[in-house]
Amino acid sequence: MSRYQYHVFVCENQRPADDPKGCCASKGTAEILAGLREKVKVAGLNAKIRINSSGCLANCARGASLVVYPDAVWYSYVKIEDISDIFEQHLVGGKPVTRLMDPVFHAGVATSGARA
Ligand code: FES
Repeated sequence: MSRYQYHVFVCENQRPADDPKGCCASKGTAEILAGLREKVKVAGLNAKIRINSSGCLANCARGASLVVYPDAVWYSYVKIEDISDIFEQHLVGGKPVTRLMDPVFHAGVATSGARA
């Protein structure tokens, strides 16, 4: 049995501004991480949902990137305004936010490629 109902990893990897790979840190992941943690805390769900900072998730070109386990749902091009949907619809409601799902890892389901 898993310790948490959901375990979320938010990439906060940072690279130099001139690095051609880019990085999620330059795309607002500190705010995304803090915002998700705050929502979990306010909802009293710390025992069920864990929000962790992570290093590079090898999805740099489609950052900001985060992944939700045990569902193995990858979200790409995430912006701060998306975190309410991720929290309420997925982490509380149990339904992944298809519009934010990675267009490569979830081909045929996701629509986030249009957001790039
Ligand atoms: S820098 Fe975030 S996935 Fe690589």
